[in-house]
Amino acid sequence: MRLTVVGTGYVGLVTGACFADMGHDVTCVDIDEAKIAKLRTGEIPIHEPGLEDVVARTVSSGHLSFTTDLADGLVSAEVVFVCVQTPSSEDGSADLSAVETVARQIGGLVTHDLVVVNKSTVPVGSASLVERLIASVAHPGAEIAVASNPEFLREGSAVHDFLHPDRVVVGTTNERAIQVLSDLYRPLGAPILVTSPETAELIKYASNAFLATKISFINAISQVCDAVGADVLDVAQGMGHDPRIGFEFLRPGPGFGGSCFPKDVRALIAAAEERGMPFDILKGVLRTNETQRDAVIAKIASAVGDLNGARIGVWGLAFKANTDDVRESPAIEIVAALRAAGATVRAYDPAVSDRVYADLGIDRAADPIDAVSGVDALAILSEWDEFRWVDLSLMRAAMAKPSIVDARNLLDPQIARGAGFIYTGIGR
Ligand code: UGA
Repeated sequence: MRLTVVGTGYVGLVTGACFADMGHDVTCVDIDEAKIAKLRTGEIPIHEPGLEDVVARTVSSGHLSFTTDLADGLVSAEVVFVCVQTPSSEDGSADLSAVETVARQIGGLVTHDLVVVNKSTVPVGSASLVERLIASVAHPGAEIAVASNPEFLREGSAVHDFLHPDRVVVGTTNERAIQVLSDLYRPLGAPILVTSPETAELIKYASNAFLATKISFINAISQVCDAVGADVLDVAQGMGHDPRIGFEFLRPGPGFGGSCFPKDVRALIAAAEERGMPFDILKGVLRTNETQRDAVIAKIASAVGDLNGARIGVWGLAFKANTDDVRESPAIEIVAALRAAGATVRAYDPAVSDRVYADLGIDRAADPIDAVSGVDALAILSEWDEFRWVDLSLMRAAMAKPSIVDARNLLDPQIARGAGFIYTGIGR
């Protein structure tokens, strides 16, 4: 099939590259000229395991190409996936301006039949808004169907998640769109749920908000564990064996971050409030996310006695492991708070760019041991695997004082204490 993908962020680039790998002819369109120029030379603008290989393979097979010209990209396209950003507005609701602009442009450009698919996370009613915007400028001969097809991939495992979805949601009442999208996704072998566009849009928000709720729940339990001397990892295990609860997303940490959960929870609260429903559970989820971050800062402060003048080593700045994304990263907020309280920070993260360190005003260390050289405490803020294997005796020798605040419960407390560290985890 001839496919066009508009927007080359995580969702767009992965969608385009993976469909191209499945044998479709895909053009990825983005208004960012620098980004498209890089992609054309095979340079991937994000750290995403496996993506570079898929892009290289599909570009060289001729199945994937890049352009900044939407008109060019739409020539003979059968399906166009809209994967542009929907950031938070001031009031927490989703800012749809990029989606609206693209919808009007598609409507104005296309003169043949087309299926337009919203893949960005967009509020309920967006598919019908896109349909109206397109209809207001559409060529009379073109039959343009609109569908909502939310994406559930995670950063850090995006290619795998795209190719192995738990389900595919197709939100449309248009028979042609149902047929085309079912044909596209059938080879992935996942259940395909056909719903109304509104239901599909809400499935995405409800899923992200529910997962964020699980995280805030276990984070709140971790605070209770700290208070009563229980072990949150055992509590999570004990809960997870109940299939009604499950093991996933019960890892306590410094709070959830990234480009999705915080934004989508805020947007769902805003959407409910707009209709007169205060979504109190989700407000609590966001509050707990903040108190969890504050609890980590308090643990670091108590490890060093006084943050003012303290030297702190940090492992991990990304919002989680296996990504260079620092959007709404709890690590960034924690480091900023440490700096504001007068601490100096040396950090190591395997993937984030120099600019992140410069913006925070902190030293970039070359490796995990370098990050703890001469520090009064180490804070582990993202859960990169390589942190698990660091030699504790080398670490102990490098640090001025042997304190570890492990906000990801990455190390074994007994082994760390046995190696001479004052170890503090989260809820254990
Ligand atoms: C999330 C969803 O998991 C995807 O299904 C969805 O497609 C995506 O948002 C999106 O809407 O685009 P992502 O933000 O990439 O994916 O990352 P997650 O792995 O879900 O992690 C989100 C945050 O929760 C991270 O800060 C992570 O450290 C935290 N987390 C996750 C925990 O603190 N504990 C857990 O047990 C799991």
